[in-house]
Amino acid sequence: MIDEVAAALDDGLAQVAAVATLEDWRAVRPALTGRQSPLGLLNRRVGSLPAEERPGVGDAVVRARQRLESALEDRRQAIAAEHRRQQLGRERLDLTEALDSHRPRRGHLHVVTRAFERLEDVFVGLGFTVAEGPEVESDWYNFTALNMPPHHPARSEFDTMFVDLGEPGSVVLRTHTSPVQIRVMERQPPPLYVVVPGRVYRRDTPDATHMPVFHQIEGLVVDRGITFADLAGTIEAFTHAYFGPGWSSRLRPSYFPFTEPSAEYDIQRPDGSWLELGGCGMVHPNVLTSCGIDPEEWQGFAFGFGLDRLGASSHGVNDLRDLFTNDIRFLSQF
Ligand code: DAH
Repeated sequence: MIDEVAAALDDGLAQVAAVATLEDWRAVRPALTGRQSPLGLLNRRVGSLPAEERPGVGDAVVRARQRLESALEDRRQAIAAEHRRQQLGRERLDLTEALDSHRPRRGHLHVVTRAFERLEDVFVGLGFTVAEGPEVESDWYNFTALNMPPHHPARSEFDTMFVDLGEPGSVVLRTHTSPVQIRVMERQPPPLYVVVPGRVYRRDTPDATHMPVFHQIEGLVVDRGITFADLAGTIEAFTHAYFGPGWSSRLRPSYFPFTEPSAEYDIQRPDGSWLELGGCGMVHPNVLTSCGIDPEEWQGFAFGFGLDRLGASSHGVNDLRDLFTNDIRFLSQF
């Protein structure tokens, strides 16, 4: 009879394992543990066994029943847990998605704007303040006060766009940020440590490396005892702060009407290659004089460079036009 108990237990455990729903479970339970179940019937036969076999067989039946009961309980809990999980999945409402679809998607600042902000941060860290000036400018600020009197040959290099206002040729879209040097010097007495970010205009046909509208940052320092060494040191300090420690700068002799001496400012990438950035030099005495500053007492240096090619090359963009056609698919990469 012990074998029959073992067989009834194995069969019962197999049936428990096959139960998949709570309805099945409710039907299977009495069939396995009730009075008419195989174990129930075996239990009844224990009474008719010889007295010495009764305790052993009776014990086996009780233990078999306990094992079935506990297997049934485990199964019930597993089914209930699975049921809850499925219900939660079905009833789940993704509220974050609902909110997101009503909220405008957040963009980010344009590559050029970010370059301006970083440049300003670096120069502010070096002790400069930030100034701005108008984009529609008079001949005086854009040229004459910068030591380019009428008919000065350097004027023709600027491919100027003129505004049809006042005397013909007297109002321009500024061709560089340098006129803000004059505006700052007129407004404030030295010492001056100023940078000027801004948009500038030249008559140019757009191509991969030219745009008729582009961006520059200008720097101006006027103080006592300023030398060319201060200019070179500031440019080098800026290069390290902005580009990183692996970068360096060099100055090459050049010519600008508003500085004397003048230089081109190049930077060297960590791979050794050079990038021409802009111009710089010691502020010309005539420029200081146009602003009512005595060049015997005050000296200064200035620099100016374009941002667009810099921003494009540091993002691997090889056509400037892509930065300004405002295709969101292109711009959102950066
Ligand atoms: N304004 C010049 C340009 O657009 C760049 C420049 C050169 C600015 C020398 C300066 C400077 O302040 O000192 O080509």
